[in-house]
Amino acid sequence: MSLDTVRAVVLAAGRGVRMKSEKAKVLHALLGRPLIHHVLRSLRTAGVKDIVVVVGHQEDAVKKAAGEGVSFARQTEQKGTGHAVLSAEKALKGFNGLVFVLAGDAPLITPETLKAMVAAHREAGAAATVLTCCIDDPSGYGRITRDEAGKFLGIVEDNDATEKQKLIQEVNSGAYVFEAKDLFRALKEVKVNPKKGEVYLTDALQVLMGHQRAVATHRAADPSEVYGINSRRDLVAATNFLRWRILERHMDAGVTIVDPSTTFIEEDVAIGADTVVLPYTVIEHDVTIGKGCEVGPFSHLRPGAILDDGAEVGNFVEVKKSRIGPHSKAKHLSYLGDATLGKGVNIGAGTITANYDGKNKHATIIGDGVHIGSNTVLVAPVKLGKNATTGAGAVVIRDVAANDTVVGVPARSLKAKPAKRKGAG
Ligand code: UD1
Ligand code: CA
Repeated sequence: MSLDTVRAVVLAAGRGVRMKSEKAKVLHALLGRPLIHHVLRSLRTAGVKDIVVVVGHQEDAVKKAAGEGVSFARQTEQKGTGHAVLSAEKALKGFNGLVFVLAGDAPLITPETLKAMVAAHREAGAAATVLTCCIDDPSGYGRITRDEAGKFLGIVEDNDATEKQKLIQEVNSGAYVFEAKDLFRALKEVKVNPKKGEVYLTDALQVLMGHQRAVATHRAADPSEVYGINSRRDLVAATNFLRWRILERHMDAGVTIVDPSTTFIEEDVAIGADTVVLPYTVIEHDVTIGKGCEVGPFSHLRPGAILDDGAEVGNFVEVKKSRIGPHSKAKHLSYLGDATLGKGVNIGAGTITANYDGKNKHATIIGDGVHIGSNTVLVAPVKLGKNATTGAGAVVIRDVAANDTVVGVPARSLKAKPAKRKGAG
């Protein structure tokens, strides 16, 4: 099922007081990327193309974090989730189809669940479908109320719940599918909540039911999907949920992860089968690792790192925006940035690509079979031809020809005449 006709509104205007932060909540990082990014990623993976993000608090920074390919609506005052959705009405003008409403602070919803919500919604012929979940500790969430037959009655916020209602474990995830027309019509009838002075999106469901329109629920099986971030502690819990989800996905695809508890792998990492990831390893997003590689212990792969099949990186090796060719090795104490390595290259312990001159980043290109001696500094831009060698401690500031050996500071070819020393014999 494709969701390319379904649109989405993502609420991200709030500040997130409980984070105790200068920074808007949706900007806080979860496994290397802002909360809002994760929500947008799930929507896109599910096939949703047309997304409106409601911004308010720290608007510019939130827009930047949301990135390209979405549109924005502004909520100037944060007067509640319903009010936030109303701010997006103009952006959806004339739209007659289905719209997701998701919270920017609930980053773990999966594309599969988004699809299942739409399927449930269509099957029920509903005006709105709410994603719910049964969780052990429902405090803070809106509770789902049902009649004796189990029919959905409404959502009561934690603040407004009676002691008895507080015991209900089925909660509102804050994720919904609506018929767009019904949504905006209903929101205009919602009264301001007397306790908080806000317009609650959840009250729009009651309005719809008052008009004899069906409201369906879809229950997520995995509580992590509905996990909302309100505090720094929640951020840690969410990190662990997501981290394990990612680690298990790689293990299921044939990757050995020796110690998952000390391995951090972000989203958008591809790892080939029979690669072994050793303990204390951090792999950031946008990294590609081939088959039969070895990574770690204590390796740090940053965005743009590519390891071809059979490549190995080891202890205290950091790789950024670099390609390590097939069966090439950097096993100890190295920084490789903006570098391209051919096949069968050996990077000696302590090798550093000096890629940054204080203004610009420059490239290092290393041919097949090159042997870099320990503690070499490769001052970029620099190129080393096939099967070249550098001596231990070399500082390479000029290109090195194929098969040549360079040594010293600055590095010179062993074939070159020794430089004349002033006053020497
Ligand atoms: C909301 C739901 C609650 C649900 C919970 C799930 C309501 C009234 N309650 O409560 O039933 O269990 O989510 O996590 O909807 N936002 C705006 N503008 C506003 C207010 C909020 O953009 O004026 C945004 C926030 O930035 C946030 C999201 O909406 O990303 C949710 O708002 P939040 O205040 O966290 O709602 P909850 O109290 O968690
Ligand atoms: Ca919340």
